[in-house]
Amino acid sequence: MDSPFLEAIKGRRSSTAPVWFMRQAGRFLPEYRRLRAKEKSFFDLCRNVELAVEITALPVKLLKVDAAILFSDLLVPLLPLKSLKVEIKEGIGPIVESLVPLTESEKLLHPYNIEELGFVAEIVSGFKNAHPYTPLIGFCGAPFTLLSYILERGSSKHYHSTKRFMFEHPEAFRRLMELATELLVKYAKMQISAGVDAFQVFDSWVGALSPEDYERYVFEHTKKLVEEISKTKIPVIYFSTGTCGSLKVIKKLPCNAFSVDWRISLEDAINILGKHRVIQGNLDPSALFLPKEELKKRVEAILIHGRKADAHIFNLGHGVFPDTDPDKVRWVVEVVHSFRWD
Ligand code: CP3
Repeated sequence: MDSPFLEAIKGRRSSTAPVWFMRQAGRFLPEYRRLRAKEKSFFDLCRNVELAVEITALPVKLLKVDAAILFSDLLVPLLPLKSLKVEIKEGIGPIVESLVPLTESEKLLHPYNIEELGFVAEIVSGFKNAHPYTPLIGFCGAPFTLLSYILERGSSKHYHSTKRFMFEHPEAFRRLMELATELLVKYAKMQISAGVDAFQVFDSWVGALSPEDYERYVFEHTKKLVEEISKTKIPVIYFSTGTCGSLKVIKKLPCNAFSVDWRISLEDAINILGKHRVIQGNLDPSALFLPKEELKKRVEAILIHGRKADAHIFNLGHGVFPDTDPDKVRWVVEVVHSFRWD
């Protein structure tokens, strides 16, 4: 029998739901902050194989979650590109500077030497050698979300520059999406060859689009990425936020599991996505600041609704905030693990 996480992601339900958290290895953990201080730049930390393996394992040890997620970042696959300067500035977030015009799609995303990301494969194999029984989730951004960092030059509130580019230069946008997908397929396959057990595609910002635009400009590329990963037989989770209105489009993606946020009830999400898919989510990360009594009610309501799908993986609707109390997160894991339906 597989671990509870791998059983669930393959659609097999057991008596308790497995649980992990997006951004579970982040700044809310004092142990992460201690290891973070060993490298000056964040990407140097991502390149430090020994430290990255140790950080990947932290949440399993400290929070007792059912799966680890590779310690890396959504922007790491951009690092081999000579056309871009990418950094994460403390207190600001990602800054992406393009050295070529954004309409020059080929020059922007070529040449691409995936070998420069060999450290990611080493982290995956290093982790699996040290923790062979802990499921490891690999990840990458979806093409829209990855490209948005280039087109916005970093994070954004409204994704106006991305959408403006998409509407004004539809052909250049299509080509960028195609090239970004190719690059992400290579990056995902590298993680899979190195030994990840499951894969999550983060489409964190695609909720900025209307359902029609999602379908018209984005869907075929995301589908291609998910299809290529699925061909390797690794189970795939597609995560997005702010996409309640686009779930009818998202439903057509060939993935094993959908991760939804708190803007839709899990029950409604399951009704739209279909009962025979695995559902992941969907506690509001801010709910971790509620008193325990109220928080417990919300966690249990999610577990009850999750029962309506083939299988449910408990998670947040988005990442843990850095000011979250680790004890509260640990306690939620206990609540999930001790909840019984029967
Ligand atoms: O625990 C884990 O989830 C594993 C590691 C992980 C990180 N980033 C580490 C990180 C994962 C899976 C990511 C994914 C990621 N990165 C996403 C998708 C998930 C989401 O939240 O939507 C996105 C959009 C990014 C881009 C990114 N990286 C931003 C916007 C920032 C700055 C803001 C922030 O949250 O700190 C980062 C930096 C980052 N990535 C940090 C960590 C631990 C903090 C940097 C530091 O410690 O110096």
